[in-house]
Amino acid sequence: VIADPPTLTDALARGWWPVARAGDLDTPVTATLLDRSLAVFRTDDGRAFVTEDVCPHRGASLSRGTVVEGALQCPYHGWQWDGSTGACLQIPALGSDGAIPPAARLRTYPAVEYLGVVWTCLSDDPLDGFPHADVPKPGDFADFRVGTIDFETNVLVAVENFRDVAHLYFVHGESINPSSPEVERLEPKRDGRVISLERRVEIDGTDGFYFDSATVMSYRAFVPHCASVVITEENSDNACALFSFVSPLSLASTRVFIVTAATPGFQGTVDDMLAKELQIFAEDKAILDHIRPASLADEVGHQVHTVADAYSLAYRKAFFDWLEEAR
Ligand code: FES
Ligand SMILES: [Fe+2]
Repeated sequence: VIADPPTLTDALARGWWPVARAGDLDTPVTATLLDRSLAVFRTDDGRAFVTEDVCPHRGASLSRGTVVEGALQCPYHGWQWDGSTGACLQIPALGSDGAIPPAARLRTYPAVEYLGVVWTCLSDDPLDGFPHADVPKPGDFADFRVGTIDFETNVLVAVENFRDVAHLYFVHGESINPSSPEVERLEPKRDGRVISLERRVEIDGTDGFYFDSATVMSYRAFVPHCASVVITEENSDNACALFSFVSPLSLASTRVFIVTAATPGFQGTVDDMLAKELQIFAEDKAILDHIRPASLADEVGHQVHTVADAYSLAYRKAFFDWLEEAR
């Protein structure tokens, strides 16, 4: 056992995790993070907020409420809550001069919008700032789309899969169609929380690497929550990028936010890319949902590694280093 589940959850709570798509906030939405129910909403001035989803009055789900005059109104008795301070602004049943009980306070969390996603941290003591300088930036990618998919496995397995080269031939024969199962010598580089890897891929026109000619795939992962790959067409400035942000719904389930992005010269569209990535992730899901153990709290036990696992292993090491620091 790595740790008692509460300790492990406390450590993970010191990370920043994605909880909602920024484009989904026309009305409040509910989110789950480390088994906690959250309400995510946007007020009329455009600001996003993350709060506890459970109303302190009688436990109604606040994400089923509405945004009224810059506050979140509970659907049950209409109490209005300030999304930044958690103060109760109004109790309609008491009339306009009714006294608000001091205990009427809603727990709130920070909300940061980045790359089309709302991020939060459940701890008062985040391990890193956000967005951290080393998290991949939108850069030249003017256009992007965000999709989500859920897995019945933990965040480490989900990111390792995105860093795993040897599975492409077997799991993504339909969508990516690599020409050989053989993996070249991988040389991942570690710099603190960043683990990167460059691969040059020959394209024969029948595979699904987004370009018709040779490409360079620049993989980059940032622990604990981000994996990305920038795919650049050789001898051109055309590039597209995939970001995979993981969020621990619990110790044994994960929501992945997939962001597809492209430079203006990219031959495809970010919508087509997202549809394809969702297909690729669905292929992964058939495997990942059945990997044992599913929970981060359970001992992995003995696993056999080879040089073809070098990148996912480097990520695993960095993730456990982060977790150690977060404890
Ligand atoms: S339960 Fe929310 S106002 Fe009563
Ligand atoms: Fe995969």
